[in-house]
Amino acid sequence: MILASGLAKSYTVRHGRKRLQVDAVSDASFEVAEGEIVSFLGPNGAGKTTTLRMLTTLTGPTSGSARVADHDVVTQSQTVRRQIGYVSQGGSTGGFAKAGDEIVDRAMLYGLDASTATRRARALLERLDLADVWARVPRSLSGGQRRRLEVAMGLVHEPRLLFLDEPTAGLDPQARSNLWGHIRDLRERYGMTVFLTTHYLDEADALSNRVIVFDHGRVVTADTPDRLKEQIAGDLVEMEVSAPEQLDAAVRILEKSTADQPSVTGLRVVGRVPRAGPLLPALTRELDMFDVELVSLEVRRPTLDDVFLTLTGSLLRDSR
Ligand SMILES: Nc1ncnc2c1ncn2[C@@H]1O[C@H](COP(=O)(O)OP(=O)(O)OP(=O)(O)O)[C@@H](O)[C@H]1O
Ligand SMILES: [Mg+2]
Repeated sequence: MILASGLAKSYTVRHGRKRLQVDAVSDASFEVAEGEIVSFLGPNGAGKTTTLRMLTTLTGPTSGSARVADHDVVTQSQTVRRQIGYVSQGGSTGGFAKAGDEIVDRAMLYGLDASTATRRARALLERLDLADVWARVPRSLSGGQRRRLEVAMGLVHEPRLLFLDEPTAGLDPQARSNLWGHIRDLRERYGMTVFLTTHYLDEADALSNRVIVFDHGRVVTADTPDRLKEQIAGDLVEMEVSAPEQLDAAVRILEKSTADQPSVTGLRVVGRVPRAGPLLPALTRELDMFDVELVSLEVRRPTLDDVFLTLTGSLLRDSR
């Protein structure tokens, strides 16, 4: 359904009197099969929105190519547009029209007649639990209702493929899981393919059958949520040494038990191990033996930030 090969996008920006080139996306290469829900996961500035805008024909690539719904995004952009739905990161329901009318207008833009458009708008609002908001102005809706309304607008022409840019950013946990339910439902009922960007590993996990981790404009890894979680399983051992000259020894000792290179910030050394409990006695003994004096030693479960660090940090080491 999506085949991206080496998609890249650079912008030239002014910095004082100089012109600088910003590589928003340097190599987006991946595939999405029909019927999949795929999460495009990455930190701020990774290039997610820019990639989405190239796939949805809103901006042309600087190089590379992509086929979306069997058509080329550059040479057949009109055909691509008719077959996809797009819900942007900022949303698009800021006007003063009533919620229902906004959907009808959108449908008519796609060439539907007024009565078909109205019928579809009613069905969609019903499906997304918004039946009673037809006559309300979108501004007066809650964040979760407004985001669902935006999804409804992206669906009114019955696309085969739906692009969602951060669909649940800013929503409370209940509204998020409610929207996840609706997205799953769309896939089950219409066999729709869904491609969404997100910052949240739990969202990617709950919603998608595959996750593409994206950072610095390129794919870091792509796998099922379960296999990704296995990669990040384990405990973090965090220790602080009392003097800089002890850092080397501390790293050397810890790295015997870690899969990746421990990271060092200031006097702190952090490494990920499969299970910290059984390791600690031997670790402290060895640190003692080499006269490494610890100020603190902590064990904790990785947080989402650590997950990003592990996944994206390993790319930095591997490729540069
Ligand atoms: N029109 C533009 N002109 C100049 N630079 C841009 C433009 N659009 C994006 N960029 C830059 O490209 C990089 C990627 O931006 P992009 O919006 O694609 O990231 P993102 O992954 O969607 O981030 P976020 O999670 O914050 O939405 C950023 O450094 C951004 O500043
Ligand atoms: Mg974005």
